[in-house]
Amino acid sequence: MDKIIIHGGKPLKGEVTLSGAKNAVLPIMAASLLVGGTTHISRVPDLRDTRTMIKLLELVGAKTHLKGNDLWIDSEHVDTPVAPYDLVKTMRASFYVLGPLLARFGETKVSLPGGCAWGPRPVDYHLRGLELLGAKVTLEKGYIHAKAKRLKGNHIRFDFPSVGATGNILMAAVTAHGTTVIENAACEPEIVQLCQFLNLMGGKITGIGTHKISVEGVKELSPSDVSVIPDRIEAGTFLIAGAALGEVTVLGGEPGHLKVLLEKLEQTGAKIKISGKKISVRKSDVILPVDVTTAVFPGYPTDLQAQWIALMTIAKGDSVVTDTVYHDRFSHVPELNRLGAEIQVSDNVACIKGRKHLVGAPVMSTDIRASASLIVGGLMAQGKTEISRVYHIDRGYEKIEEKFNSLGADITRLN
Ligand code: EPZ
Repeated sequence: MDKIIIHGGKPLKGEVTLSGAKNAVLPIMAASLLVGGTTHISRVPDLRDTRTMIKLLELVGAKTHLKGNDLWIDSEHVDTPVAPYDLVKTMRASFYVLGPLLARFGETKVSLPGGCAWGPRPVDYHLRGLELLGAKVTLEKGYIHAKAKRLKGNHIRFDFPSVGATGNILMAAVTAHGTTVIENAACEPEIVQLCQFLNLMGGKITGIGTHKISVEGVKELSPSDVSVIPDRIEAGTFLIAGAALGEVTVLGGEPGHLKVLLEKLEQTGAKIKISGKKISVRKSDVILPVDVTTAVFPGYPTDLQAQWIALMTIAKGDSVVTDTVYHDRFSHVPELNRLGAEIQVSDNVACIKGRKHLVGAPVMSTDIRASASLIVGGLMAQGKTEISRVYHIDRGYEKIEEKFNSLGADITRLN
């Protein structure tokens, strides 16, 4: 039945250990295709999306071995550089294999990712970037065909600092002939780790963590081991839940990845305590309304927009949440309103009227972070909340009900 049942209104108290970051491990897994040999990735989160990427790697000819949170990828015998539609349509991040397969084989076919629950998600920056590196890119029956004898370095500027396009172009440029400069590149921590990983493989990337990244093409790479950074979005999800319901500590976090969120939580009246990789939040007696506008890193992450709206539904006053990254990422709002929230959306702006409390009801997940906001809503609501299509949450959160139940929540899964 793929549902979870939450009996809400219970206080949360305790500690959870963060998993490795989904959005860091997926490009790293794709990057392992750049060269033959075995890559060992540790702290791999056990998610639907990492399992999908493993399937894709095996489809193109790699051999994989997963033991707990350790993954070995042997890409020696990769020989069919094709990423099929029925796999890419389930996970947009499959598109990350385009750059590495093109760089290694000179030709690849990757299905064009469709839209997602909240609307179109184009890949024009990825394709334009590859053309600037000398690839011939055509669209044939829903597949992107890319061809290039040898990619050549060039100057590329993105209209928007796209995470995915930055990742794909980095992986294509690392062995191109000559130097590539990417202007208006993404500088999310997940892209920083990808750059570091490519350098561990022998790449020559500088400007890491800035919006201007230079890649001096190298002749060859060799496989490397890597340990995935903690998932800042998982951390933010648990900290937001803590600011709503009690006192939560996340272990193994990187406070520097969450600066703006922590500032916003303090503005609600919550108390934040940081010691090393331990980040704690204690809820305020009165949750003050706080406006949020999402932005690229280091701004407030769009992937925590839905969870913030959930928190604001019980704030003492009205708040406004604006998403400048995705203008239509509000499919969680009608579902939160079913729990008694009072949220109006127009264009990319949600106006939330703080209510005394929410009341449990059946709701439906539509995407990973919308599901997370419904879980936060269900935990806050009085009575029983039933969340269907919960496979969405499993794409991006490892053992989420176990982790919340260890904090005192009452979540059960109906399979
Ligand atoms: C990554 O998606 C993340 N996914 C998303 O997280 C995250 O929401 C997003 O970055 C923004 O931070 C992974 O890392 C696997 P973008 P990505 O390219 O790379 C526009 C989650 O819940 N754009 O940075 O697809 C695009 O439409 C997921 O974990 C173009 O117009 O995001 C959007 O408005 C959801 N053309 C903006 O840029 C392009 O060619 C940012 O998109 C590419 C992007």
